[in-house]
Amino acid sequence: MRVGEQYKVKIEKLSNLGLGIAKIDGMVIFVENACPQDELLIKISKVNKNFANANILEILNPSLHRIKPFCPMQKVCGACQLQFIDYDYQLKIKQKIVQDAMHSIGGIDIDIPLPVASPEIMEYRCKVQYPVSQTKVSKRLIAGYFKQKSHEIVNIKYCPIQPNICDDIIEFVRKKGTELGISGYNEKTHSGELRHVVIRYSKFNQKSLVTFVVNSNIISDSIKKLSKLIFAEFNSVSGVCVNFNQNKNNLILTNNTICVVGDNYIEEKLLDKIFKFGPNSFFQVNPKSAENIFLYVKNYIKNNFSNPTVFDAYAGVTTFGITLSDVCSKVVSVEECKEAVEWAERTVHDNKISNIELHNMDAEKFFEQELQTNERKFEITVLDPPRKGATQKTLDNVLKLTSEKIIYVSCNPATLARDLKYLLSKGAKLESIQPFDMFCHTYHIENVAIIDLKDVNK
Ligand SMILES: C[S@@+](CC[C@H](N)C(=O)[O-])C[C@H]1O[C@@H](n2cnc3c(N)ncnc32)[C@H](O)[C@@H]1O
Repeated sequence: MRVGEQYKVKIEKLSNLGLGIAKIDGMVIFVENACPQDELLIKISKVNKNFANANILEILNPSLHRIKPFCPMQKVCGACQLQFIDYDYQLKIKQKIVQDAMHSIGGIDIDIPLPVASPEIMEYRCKVQYPVSQTKVSKRLIAGYFKQKSHEIVNIKYCPIQPNICDDIIEFVRKKGTELGISGYNEKTHSGELRHVVIRYSKFNQKSLVTFVVNSNIISDSIKKLSKLIFAEFNSVSGVCVNFNQNKNNLILTNNTICVVGDNYIEEKLLDKIFKFGPNSFFQVNPKSAENIFLYVKNYIKNNFSNPTVFDAYAGVTTFGITLSDVCSKVVSVEECKEAVEWAERTVHDNKISNIELHNMDAEKFFEQELQTNERKFEITVLDPPRKGATQKTLDNVLKLTSEKIIYVSCNPATLARDLKYLLSKGAKLESIQPFDMFCHTYHIENVAIIDLKDVNK
C-alpha cells in the first residue's frame, strides 16, 4: 500500500479516537470524518507498519445516520468530531467504543449498556478556553479553537455547543481588545500579551466568570480596562480575573490568578448542593450530565449500604464527597489542587456539612500516609483520576484502603480497561459499567465502573 493510492471501502466502526475503521486485505485503515456503514472512496495519506490513514475523496453511499452538522465550522474546527452523525447513533457508537476497549485492552467481555444521554446536546459545555492570537497586518485579535491537528486558530464567532453568551463575550473581547491595542499571543515567538480567554458558565444562575490568561507577570492598563468594560457591559458576568502564564508550553492556566473586578468564583448546583469554584479548579464541563452521574452513584450507595464511610480520591472541589455526604457516615477526600480544596472548604461550610475531611495533597502520598499512620479503611472509594488513569501502585494502595467497593469514574475507556484488568487480576469482580455522555458530538465518553472487592486477597 502506498500514499496517494485510492480504494473503495466500507466503514465497520469507529476507533476510540473517533476515526472510521475500514480494512483492506486485513490492514486497518483509519479514516477521518467517517460514519459506520459509510461506503467511501478514500485516498491513503500515511502508511505505517500495521495500519494506514486515509482521507475521504467521495462518499459513495452514506450511512443512514449521517446528518447535516448544525455548526458550519464542524469540518474545520477540531472540537466536535461526530457532529455529522445523529445523536442516538452517537450513543450507540460510544457504547461500542467502550465495549471494544474493555475487550481488546482489558480482556473483559461484559455487556455495556447504552450511555445515559446528556440532558442537553446544545449549549451544554460550560467551560470555554479560547486561544487568542492576532492577524498579521491589521493586528485584530482572533480567538477560537485550533484547526484539526494544528495550532492554527479558527476565529469562531458562534459555537452551538456552548452557551450563547460566551460568543457575545468573546466578540466583545476581540473588538474592544483590538481597540485598546492589546496584542494576541504568538506561540512561535512567545510574544504578545493575551494568550487565552477562559469562561466558566453556570447553568444554575446563568452567570459567567471570565479569565484572561496573559503572557506577563503584571496586569497592563489595557487588560485592566478591558476587564472593567466587560463587567460593565454584561450584567451576567459575575467577575473578571487575570491569570499570569509566561511558560513556553501548552499549559493554559498557571496557579497564579488574581481577580480584577467582581467575584473570583462561580456557583453551580449539583443535586441539592451549591458549589463555588474559581478558574483553576477542575469542574465537570457539562453539569447537567454530571448530575446524572452523581445521582447514579448516590442511588447505588443508598440502595446497597447503610451510611458507609467513603473515600473521594482525585476529588476536585469534592463534588462526589459533597453530593454523597448525606448518605454516608464520613467522607474523606484528597485533591492536589490547592484552589479546588479551598473552594471545597467553602462549599462544605456554606452547605453546613459536618462529616467531611478534606486533604490537599498528592493522592499517592496521601495513600501511603494513610496506610502508615491510620488504621482506618473505607467501605467505598470513589476513584476519579485524570485521563491517564491510575498507576498499579495507586490501585494496590486503594485496594488496601477499601473494604467493599471501588466506584471508578473515568473519562478514558482505554485507561479504565487497563486498570480494570489489573484490579481483576487481584481478585476484584467487575459488577457493572455504565457510560454517561458528557461530551456530546465528540468521541469522548465518561464511565462509572462498580468493582466488588470481597474476594480480593490483600
Ligand atoms: C477527572 S478530575 C475529577 C474531579 C472530581 N472528582 C469531579 O468529578 O469534579 C481529576 C482531579 O484529580 C486531580 N489530580 C490530578 N492528579 C492528582 C494527584 N496526583 N493527586 C491528587 N489529585 C490529583 C485534578 O486536579 C482533578 O481535580
